[in-house]
Amino acid sequence: MPQAAPFVVHDRWGGGARKRSLPLSRVYALLETGPVVLLTTARDGRANVMTMSWHTMMEFEPPLVGCVVSDRNYSFALLKATKECVINIPTAKLARQVVAVGNSTGRRIDKFAAFGLTALRAARVEAPLVGECYASLECRIADARLVAKYGFFILEVVKAWIDPSVKAPATLHHAGRGTFRVAGRTLRLPSRMK
Ligand SMILES: Cc1cc2nc3c(=O)[nH]c(=O)nc-3n(C[C@H](O)[C@H](O)[C@H](O)COP(=O)(O)O)c2cc1C
Repeated sequence: MPQAAPFVVHDRWGGGARKRSLPLSRVYALLETGPVVLLTTARDGRANVMTMSWHTMMEFEPPLVGCVVSDRNYSFALLKATKECVINIPTAKLARQVVAVGNSTGRRIDKFAAFGLTALRAARVEAPLVGECYASLECRIADARLVAKYGFFILEVVKAWIDPSVKAPATLHHAGRGTFRVAGRTLRLPSRMK
């Protein structure tokens, strides 16, 4: 086996003059770029919704999604108790409601009524779909072993819904501190995946 050539390290901190040191408290905003979603839960006929951007895909099929739900949120107790939720994906049209939902708690108000969101019946779970979102993923907890330590729930998507009329969804991507980017151009490149 040919030896890999040692890589050249230039003697400048941070890879050159253009990069600066970034406070560790700002790191999340660089990687937190999946679409911002609305996570719904329900118990005893009452539904709640929270904004969430800390999530990650973990498996293709059955789809597994890992997500962090803080135990300070009302949604944490509902998700832990019912073991079910729906991940709803909004577009930029819903940006103001998404932020309002993320800055209020369902402990005190009905966020569906307060922010004009429509709760639609789901097929496999009690938590509702959000009518205004272009996609909704009904989920059940698949693994709760990291919940106590990190608030990290591993969810299995058991039913998925999509509005086929939304061709290139302008999803919202949180860039930290109330700043969002909106998904834009679509690039099509060769892929092994069908
Ligand atoms: C853009 C945005 C992203 C958020 N992402 C998360 C997240 O990933 N996990 C989390 O626990 N809270 C997140 N939050 C905070 C919750 O949405 C917020 O605490 C909400 O009020 C909880 O509602 P609840 O008490 O009704 O469950 C986010 C808020 C905003 C505005």
